Amino acid sequence: METVAKLNGDVKDIALADDGKRKIQWANQHMPVLQLIRKQFIKDQPLKGIRVSACLHVTSETANLVITLRDGGADVVLCASNPLSTQDDVASSLVRDYNIPTYAIKGEDNATYYSHISAALDHKPQITMDDGADLVTQLLTKRTDLLSGVIGGTEETTTGVIRLRAMAKDGTLKFPIIAVNDALTKHFFDNRYGTGQSTLDGVIRATNLLLAGLKVVIAGYGWCGRGVAMRAKGHGADVIITEIDPVKGIEAVMDGFRVLQMADAAKEGDVFITVTGNKNVIRSEHFEHMKSGAVVCNSGHFNVEIDIPALEKLSSGKREVRPLVDEYLLKDGRRINLIGEGRLVNLASAEGHPASVMDMSFANQALSAEYLVKNSKDLKAQVYVVPEHLDKEIARLKLESMGHKLDKLTAEQEHYLSSWQEGT
Ligand SMILES: NC(=O)c1ccc[n+]([C@@H]2O[C@H](COP(=O)([O-])OP(=O)(O)OC[C@H]3O[C@@H](n4cnc5c(N)ncnc54)[C@H](O)[C@@H]3O)[C@@H](O)[C@H]2O)c1
Repeated sequence: METVAKLNGDVKDIALADDGKRKIQWANQHMPVLQLIRKQFIKDQPLKGIRVSACLHVTSETANLVITLRDGGADVVLCASNPLSTQDDVASSLVRDYNIPTYAIKGEDNATYYSHISAALDHKPQITMDDGADLVTQLLTKRTDLLSGVIGGTEETTTGVIRLRAMAKDGTLKFPIIAVNDALTKHFFDNRYGTGQSTLDGVIRATNLLLAGLKVVIAGYGWCGRGVAMRAKGHGADVIITEIDPVKGIEAVMDGFRVLQMADAAKEGDVFITVTGNKNVIRSEHFEHMKSGAVVCNSGHFNVEIDIPALEKLSSGKREVRPLVDEYLLKDGRRINLIGEGRLVNLASAEGHPASVMDMSFANQALSAEYLVKNSKDLKAQVYVVPEHLDKEIARLKLESMGHKLDKLTAEQEHYLSSWQEGT
């Protein structure tokens, strides 16, 4: 393994950069909205001289985001937001071909993961970009010396937004955050269609299972869960949902799925996918009833949705049966397969979301960074949503790039919709 400290980063092997460059270029072709923003950024330089530390999944799509920020004038560094989600070739290309310091190695241990976050913080960010709030958490707890220089930050995912809102509530948050996840052009599409497709892609690449005819248990029927369920149904799976929210539960039922408690679903399922953002959703009492050969994985942000220590306790040993698939041999003779150490299966065993959907998520990131620079003086240490006009503009550009056209309101219709006297 060649360490590339001299190139200002820490990646697995710089010789992988050619492959990474091809991947970055391929993703770029499928990110037309980000391309438009990049063109504008090159012209306007809205981030000129702004130091950005980004802690995101290091994929070919993220590469295009950080290149866009750099082209907008930012001085940007990148580190991984998950130890297993890095594409090593992309990380190498960012360092070698784009001169963007990148600290990320797929499979890095916890200590390296945090040392990489620390390296990104050494950059003294004025803007933070997070996926899961690990960077901001480190900054607020271990690197408070940097606080005075921070203008604000952005957050990519549901779990990160939940953590940051909790920080804002108890006064721990010290600068404004834009919740990119909460933009409609983010979670409607990225969480639903992106996670839906890429999660199944991860399960299939890891196991090569035929989903048709299998019982697939999905924990959580939020934005991600709906997407995974919809796609699993399309594969011919018999989908079972577990939920704790009655509205989501009834929605799942009316979408045509059975809703069971995990205690019962555990006995039936062939494949289990957690996407709740919660912890210990599958635990000892559930493993105890699973069929031998069951496959278990997680697509929620943290690797806490499956109680892996409990699975270990029930087991007499484990072996890797396929890349990133651990078969646990239970003391009673059953076998349970865990994909990707319970980390995001779509990033560990596949390539994460397709570029076309990250196009909108990262358009939100880029425009939110610009918004922070322009408006930081008026923002408090709170979590803000992406301004509606930016959200709508991203949707408009995406539709246009896909060759679709919207109707326009006539003057008469506009009047009708805005007037209470009409319509009688
Ligand atoms: N894999 C990815 O690439 C990817 C992409 C986007 C978001 N995420 C992550 O996925 C997770 C879910 O995100 P979301 O946007 O769908 O959130 P969401 O809030 O829309 O949905 C979560 C759902 O889980 C349910 N839930 C909570 N605890 C539960 C339990 N014990 N049992 C069953 N259901 C339970 C909630 O009621 C809710 O309906 C988050 O951690 C988010 O950060 C992952």
